[in-house]
Amino acid sequence: KTVTVAIVGATGAVGETLLKILAERQFPVGTLHVLASERSAGEKLEYGARQLVVQDLATFDPTGVDIALFSAGGSISKEYAPKFAAAGAVVIDNSSVFRGDDDVPLVVAEVNPEAARNRPRGIIANPNCSTMQLMVALAPIHRAVGIERINIATYQSVSGTGRRALEELGKQTAGMLNFREVEPEVYPVQIAFNVIPHGGDFLDNGYTSEEMKLVWETRKILGDDSIGVNATVVRVPVFYGHSEAVHIETREKITAAQARALLEKAPGVEVVDEQVGGGYPTPVTHASGNDPVYVGRIREDISHPRGLDLWVVADNIRKGAALNAVQLAELVLREA
Ligand code: A2P
Repeated sequence: KTVTVAIVGATGAVGETLLKILAERQFPVGTLHVLASERSAGEKLEYGARQLVVQDLATFDPTGVDIALFSAGGSISKEYAPKFAAAGAVVIDNSSVFRGDDDVPLVVAEVNPEAARNRPRGIIANPNCSTMQLMVALAPIHRAVGIERINIATYQSVSGTGRRALEELGKQTAGMLNFREVEPEVYPVQIAFNVIPHGGDFLDNGYTSEEMKLVWETRKILGDDSIGVNATVVRVPVFYGHSEAVHIETREKITAAQARALLEKAPGVEVVDEQVGGGYPTPVTHASGNDPVYVGRIREDISHPRGLDLWVVADNIRKGAALNAVQLAELVLREA
């Protein structure tokens, strides 16, 4: 049995990877609609051996779509996801607009798959990329000993911002190496050879929206509103792969060895933790282009009796977005 799938935002950084992952995992795709804005309507995209023509979302009729994967930004999801759901599709949405709604499940495939079944609006939300990899790494520890507090600093790649940001880093880097300054357009300041402590918008409490996503989404996914989360989100000049320096305080003490053993058998996790040069995961050596969430630098915090430190790296476009969305689609298929 095959299903009719629509990808909304198919020409984007995540859309491109959705196509790749559907093919890689041999998702039973019957008809596949690739949708984007009027600007790219008529362009051709490859899906395995098939050539698909991009259609304009604004004039597309969603009747007959079984599964719709949305990754075209919040305003597009807000307007079109309910229309696709009303036409009978299960919508898997990569934007943040529905994530906080009580009647929309927020699901990491390895962590809370059962939540995906309860979707009264026909919409399942895909978590933010930084939360995604954090949850895959921390859920096993939370279940074993309880997590009281999470302190996190992220080192996020530009692909999380979209295709234009990938181009901006490339152009700025090439420009700088040729003694030519390139004006920032996507980011407020130069991203090449720099780091920027700013993701999303500034909020009244002094945090940014990307930082607060880590707070709200962590609590919803782990089903525990008592977990404290303190985040600093930083953009770094890396193309693919987010890294996170994670410091947790657990309810019960867990040793580094116990945590390592737990993570070694955790689904979706790969431990890379040798105390030698290169014995830790990085975006370039491990994460980019690969599925697992890599965890290294596991050690007990010398400043806290129940503290543990970890370094968590994953491909933000794969596990952080497209891969999890396809895993959620697989969960939906398995229900039938
Ligand atoms: P398009 O290429 O036609 O602009 P990214 O996150 O990499 O920037 O990609 C965003 C995705 O969302 C692209 O596929 C883009 O299509 C799509 N998109 C942006 N605006 C619209 C719109 N108004 N209607 C449909 N798709 C849109």
